[in-house]
Amino acid sequence: IIISVLLMILAYICGSFPSGVVIGKAMTGTDIRQFGSKNTGSTNAIRVLGKKVGFLVFFCDVFKGAIVIIILQILSKCDVFHSVLDYGFYGMMAVIGHSYSIFLGFKGGKAVATSLGVVLCICPLAGILCLITFLIVLKSTGYVSLASTFATLAVLLTYLVLFFVGYYGPSFIEYFINKPSLANLLTILVPGVIIIYKHIPNYKRLANGTENSFKKKKVDPI
Ligand code: G3P
Repeated sequence: IIISVLLMILAYICGSFPSGVVIGKAMTGTDIRQFGSKNTGSTNAIRVLGKKVGFLVFFCDVFKGAIVIIILQILSKCDVFHSVLDYGFYGMMAVIGHSYSIFLGFKGGKAVATSLGVVLCICPLAGILCLITFLIVLKSTGYVSLASTFATLAVLLTYLVLFFVGYYGPSFIEYFINKPSLANLLTILVPGVIIIYKHIPNYKRLANGTENSFKKKKVDPI
């Protein structure tokens, strides 16, 4: 248990790495916290620093969530270390680190990309459904915040369905799905709550019509 707690702290520190700020400053000399939505995530990096930097920040943020779990999976396969805790706990710590970074005075991003990295590792089906939902909502509305919110709800719903089907459905279902445990479900709820909480300013902007959109505005012909 001591090693597991130490690994959770390590996961938090790993998630705390402020990719948006570091990559933004290194590649363009700009601190994204001063511009756009002032968020440190990849959406604001794309908005302020362009697609190249933004996607690099995105992959780095996804990687922060995934790497912790990938290392644990490798260690357990090689019989080096078997965690007493569900892997979701480490992923959750990486997400908390991303949103409340020790390197940014406990401020940080909105948890979306790092949570995606975690979900893709611990429940690929939920991760893929999350990505599909995100792309559909983004394409139809142009609002990343709305797409992130619906993608989060899609993950929570998928988890709930898998959880109930896994426990109360017919037993052959286990051949087809990797049923999430209760611990798994709880560790996915925390990032979900952080994402929704961090998007409150976006919901206010959506309500008063001032939210940033990636949808190109139609120009009326003269
Ligand atoms: O992942 C963050 C996104 O949903 C919103 O970002 O910069 O528009 O507040 P932003």
